[in-house]
Amino acid sequence: MSQEIGLIGLGRIGHNLALNMIEHNVSLRAWDHSTNTCNRVRTICPELQISNSIEELIDTLSSPRRIMLLLPSGDNSEQCIKKLSNILEQGDLIIDSGNAHFRDTERRQSRLAKQGIQFLGLGVSGGVQGARNGPSIMAGGTTKAWGEVSPILESISARANGTPCAGYIGEGGAGHFIKIVHNGIEYAVMQILADVFELLYKGCRMHADKIAEIFYTLNSGSTASYLMEASAKVSAIRERGKKAFLIDFVDDRAEQKGTGSWAVEAAFELGVSVPTIAAAVQFRTISNEARLIKHEKNNPTDNISAPTFLPKEVTPFIKSGIACAIASAYAQGFSLINAARDQFGTTINLCRIAQLWRSGSILRGEMINLIAESLHGESNYANILSTSHIQPLISEGIIPLRELVKTGLSVGLPLPGLSSASEYIDSLNQLQLSTRFIQLQRDYFGNHGFRLIGQDTLENGPWNQDDS
Ligand code: 6PG
Repeated sequence: MSQEIGLIGLGRIGHNLALNMIEHNVSLRAWDHSTNTCNRVRTICPELQISNSIEELIDTLSSPRRIMLLLPSGDNSEQCIKKLSNILEQGDLIIDSGNAHFRDTERRQSRLAKQGIQFLGLGVSGGVQGARNGPSIMAGGTTKAWGEVSPILESISARANGTPCAGYIGEGGAGHFIKIVHNGIEYAVMQILADVFELLYKGCRMHADKIAEIFYTLNSGSTASYLMEASAKVSAIRERGKKAFLIDFVDDRAEQKGTGSWAVEAAFELGVSVPTIAAAVQFRTISNEARLIKHEKNNPTDNISAPTFLPKEVTPFIKSGIACAIASAYAQGFSLINAARDQFGTTINLCRIAQLWRSGSILRGEMINLIAESLHGESNYANILSTSHIQPLISEGIIPLRELVKTGLSVGLPLPGLSSASEYIDSLNQLQLSTRFIQLQRDYFGNHGFRLIGQDTLENGPWNQDDS
């Protein structure tokens, strides 16, 4: 089997992945459309063979060629794939490692299959650090294509308990679909942690240094995670050369590249509720909208309208409350994966997916370890919230979570991550939801019908009684 890869895209992730591959004895040739980038990487990484053009790259690789793309999704990768389709030959393989939409991946797979070119959609998580030291890899496409490059991908991936965090997910766009869900959960957990920061910073007027300490303390047990550690670090960081914290200078208009909203769109399509993922996406959106109030001075922290509360009103509830909220976010993502199983073939295995995220991915941490353990051997569950290792976090954490939400909302602080996470759990804990009232309203004006408890046939209400 050829251990040769042609890598296209030498941005920060691309060149770090190149270094990782070289370390694992992959014979690598690379190219980037920007000459500046090629020259920069030539100086940092002299052992990497960089071609002068895409044609030269393809020419120097032996057949069948394996081309890995590390390009921003969208137009860049579309153009590159089109170009490659004109120069590659039957039997060659393109591996798209960007955050592509799974439908684009499927469209490309069927278009290229007509020319006998294989296409593997690879979800890759872990950012720059992951690319260098071992990312988490989720592959989608044919088992043949996966088999041709799995030894390379497994060797460069992160490992959890000695097992590579690189695996085949299923047919078509399955790998990119799972990466989209991964990112949806990532958005949700990030928002939950941002809510906690807000509660302490704005709500309690706590010093950012002290909040960092709280995040470091939370970085243990069920709430230990890469994102918790990242939150501690970003809280404590100061503006360059100043005593003030960087957070006070950061424009709050959040950006997003699309994966979060794709997760929400897929959830709508599949009829699955992902309220915390949706809330996280929407909160990034609302952060770009016009505000009803204006900054008094050129300092956003001057404009805190919420009255404060005491740290003791929230800190006792944080640990178990956020464990519960984070579990809720994961449960939403896993329900989405579960609903998509039919689409991507029988190989979709929730336990395996949790295992792939245990190391290298942005979601790595104790929660995903607990989920992987829970799902190992447990198959009879309606929702991962009721599995052995997760259920105790919910029963212990739901009341503290409601306390956090109640305290924040009572002073007008929006807490979209925490509140939607608790609502998800509270909704699933009701035998009857207010949607029975919705059913009557729909029938009243639209004659749509409703089902009586225990019956499958539709009934109509006696709405015109008052008219007679
Ligand atoms: C990962 C990340 C990575 C990237 C996100 C950021 O798993 O390594 O998810 O893919 O950081 O795409 O997405 P936004 O720009 O939309 O926040």
